[in-house]
Amino acid sequence: MYFFKNEFVDAKDVQISPDDRGYYFGDGIYEVFRVYQGQLYECEAHMQRLLRTAAEVRLQLPYSNEAFVQILNELIQKNGLNEGTIYLQITRGEAPRAHPFPTQAEPIVLAYSNEVKRPLATIENGIKAVTQPDIRWLRCDLKTLNLLPNVLAKQAALDHGVQEVVLHREGTVTECSASNLMIVKNQTLYTHPANHLILHGITRAVVLRIAHTLGIPVKEEAFTTGQLLLADEAFITGTTVEITPLLEIDGQAIGTGAPGPLTQTLQREFEKTFL
Ligand code: PDD
Repeated sequence: MYFFKNEFVDAKDVQISPDDRGYYFGDGIYEVFRVYQGQLYECEAHMQRLLRTAAEVRLQLPYSNEAFVQILNELIQKNGLNEGTIYLQITRGEAPRAHPFPTQAEPIVLAYSNEVKRPLATIENGIKAVTQPDIRWLRCDLKTLNLLPNVLAKQAALDHGVQEVVLHREGTVTECSASNLMIVKNQTLYTHPANHLILHGITRAVVLRIAHTLGIPVKEEAFTTGQLLLADEAFITGTTVEITPLLEIDGQAIGTGAPGPLTQTLQREFEKTFL
């Protein structure tokens, strides 16, 4: 079942108009939730980010926070979802193509679930990446549609035979195509500050919380691609990738080229937050 325009319907009954502003302009916002054992993970944090994005792009959400959560939980139940993701998208509505906000249109809500297993192989064995310039706009903190730069970046990685891309602005590392990036240097954890240049990842926040609890020094400071290469360990964080070790960048090994001990400690603690 999908949730579309105020009701639960079969996938075949979701009919999206060509006049949907998401279709014309990418004029919409979204969230990707993880579901572990039938439960929404970090639901409140995702909802707060959705609310903030909606306010920043001046999109009037059609439901309250509580009503959204109820819809998502009903979706989990109706689909018998135990382990997977939920995609939630709200566009500014349907109207003939014109740039100004439409005066009549109602926001359109779409939500569905996917059964997805945890990516245990890459969590254990790590991934490789290439660097690419970060050509996105200057509000990467907002979870909006219009993901063409992310799509191009991810495809560039695949074309290079690796799984991910590390984005940088004139040599300063920001994040990856759909995840945040952290490095370990001399037992200290570094990650880009949560400003307008990165998405404020929920997984990133959980990992920083764990690091504080464990007494691992954290510096929310930007680092360069050169510093990434010289790091002792590196890993990416995200709803779909959890904590995945990053072993190689542009063909050069990071640290020993194997998942690092601090990364593995954080992975073990991260698992405890939902297992
Ligand atoms: N992406 N950075 C970017 C650019 C992202 O798109 C995402 C998430 C993250 C990680 O955020 P979180 O820990 O809250 O998932 C960082 C989702 C999964 C996506 O677009 O599919």
